[in-house]
Amino acid sequence: MLKGMVSLVTGGASGLGKATVERLIKSEGKVVILDIQGTRAQELAKRLGENVAVSVGCVSSEDDVKKALELTKSLYGKLDTVVNCAGFAQTRQVYNFYKGQECSMDDFIKCINVNTIGTFNTIRLAAGLIGKNAPNEDGQRGVIVNTASTIAYEGDIGQAGYAASTAAVIGMTLPIARDLASRGIRVVTIAPGIFETPLVTYLPEKMIEFIKRMTPFPSRLGKPEEFAHLVTSIVENPMLNGEVIRLDGAQRWFPL
Ligand SMILES: NC(=O)c1ccc[n+]([C@@H]2O[C@H](COP(=O)([O-])OP(=O)(O)OC[C@H]3O[C@@H](n4cnc5c(N)ncnc54)[C@H](O)[C@@H]3O)[C@@H](O)[C@H]2O)c1
Repeated sequence: MLKGMVSLVTGGASGLGKATVERLIKSEGKVVILDIQGTRAQELAKRLGENVAVSVGCVSSEDDVKKALELTKSLYGKLDTVVNCAGFAQTRQVYNFYKGQECSMDDFIKCINVNTIGTFNTIRLAAGLIGKNAPNEDGQRGVIVNTASTIAYEGDIGQAGYAASTAAVIGMTLPIARDLASRGIRVVTIAPGIFETPLVTYLPEKMIEFIKRMTPFPSRLGKPEEFAHLVTSIVENPMLNGEVIRLDGAQRWFPL
């Protein structure tokens, strides 16, 4: 199933997306990376060989996503799977009482714009192309995997924007799965705990130790390859649909 599968991986230049690209290529698939970090994406593509192509662009731009889909179609003739990993996290308290200053609206909007709108934009534009595939014996034409976060459930101080933007991805999972069901396209969202990627390397060592202590087993950060493993498990399991899967070693996030 993974062999010959054509995937679009957003945010594929780094972290969870990068590990996913590597796993899909190892499984003999073909991948287009859509990422704003062109140089990093090109370097990865060069390392992984001829079955990876790069489209530089932003997930919340209609033109950029369409360009990535056109590249996918022209190079590989179809699209089977979308993995939405593009996103970012931010920490902004709704009001800073020391400075007497409210959170900037632009910061909140940026979070929603990339994490929520970017995910929805990619899904809505990719669905038509996936829907053109011939169905397999089960009637399936393709799979869409999104990334949310456990912060959507247990956001801490300063995480309102990030929590809202990822909770929206969780909220859209079931209705989109229902929208696309008649065409045989499954939609599943992964809600990761804290994973070892450039997104979290800025965290102080004390914080990392705290996160590990809050993770019952295994008491460590997640490895990006474990995220990628779940992506391929979702693709391979035809009964998984409309669901959000926590991938977090039973970690629960309590206020500090
Ligand atoms: N690392 C974690 O602990 C963790 C936990 C839960 C959820 N997540 C979520 O997983 C996703 C991936 O995180 P990561 O840790 O791999 O981060 P990362 O920073 O390593 O990778 C994110 C990638 O997305 C790309 N990107 C960002 N904005 C983009 C845009 N507008 N258009 C196209 N590409 C864009 C970046 O260039 C980067 O290559 C994010 O949405 C993040 O919020 C991460």
